[in-house]
Amino acid sequence: VYHTPELTPSDRVADCAIAVDVLRATTTMVTALDAGAEAVQVFSDIEQLKQVSEQWPSEKRIRAGERGGSMVDGCDMGNSPLDCTPDRVSGRRLFISTTNGTRALQCVAKAPSVLAAALINRRAVVELLARKRPETLWIVGSGWEGSFSLEDTVCAGAIAHSLQEMTGISLVDLAGNDETIAAIALYLQWQDRLLELMHHASHGHRLLRLNNSADLEYCAQTDILTTVPVQKEPGVLVKQ
Ligand code: MLT
Repeated sequence: VYHTPELTPSDRVADCAIAVDVLRATTTMVTALDAGAEAVQVFSDIEQLKQVSEQWPSEKRIRAGERGGSMVDGCDMGNSPLDCTPDRVSGRRLFISTTNGTRALQCVAKAPSVLAAALINRRAVVELLARKRPETLWIVGSGWEGSFSLEDTVCAGAIAHSLQEMTGISLVDLAGNDETIAAIALYLQWQDRLLELMHHASHGHRLLRLNNSADLEYCAQTDILTTVPVQKEPGVLVKQ
């Protein structure tokens, strides 16, 4: 488990890398693909998003831009998963740029297999991993501008714990992997109170100040969707 893109090694890649941004980018991506979006294309730079999406037919695109938790001017939506309804996204490509989540995806884009995970699709991600059995796996939490986040770490722990149960990996096998053991412990402590944990998290506070409590409630749910976004080409994710 790596907590932020800044702490993710740049000199090597894992067989499979999972980007996590529970609040809210990867939750939004899962929801959009589940609601019928054709693909999700991620950008760290908002101007690049605008240039690339301009070349796409307007009826086939939707542009999501977020900075500091708020919608970027000139986009069709911010980063709320609740905006990804079938009538808004079905058949369209979601072009998205967010403060941290899209950067996390870009920093692992070179891995042979790249997935996006959140709490809402945790089980589906774990089932896919149990089938693929990658030899090396990174779970990269987006954090906030280079720092640790509770919500991404608890999701990494939820994935690791479920993978342990499904594949028989024990804590002994994880010896020396301090981040993963700590993430599992965080999950076991909070698994029945994930919404409460979101309320303690710094980005949870930020979103509550911006009146996004419905987003927190949605993002704190576990295993409600079976869609797994997988990278088809660098920066473009489709439904597995
Ligand atoms: C991010 O990428 O930092 C976010 O998903 C922030 C947000 O919109 O909540």
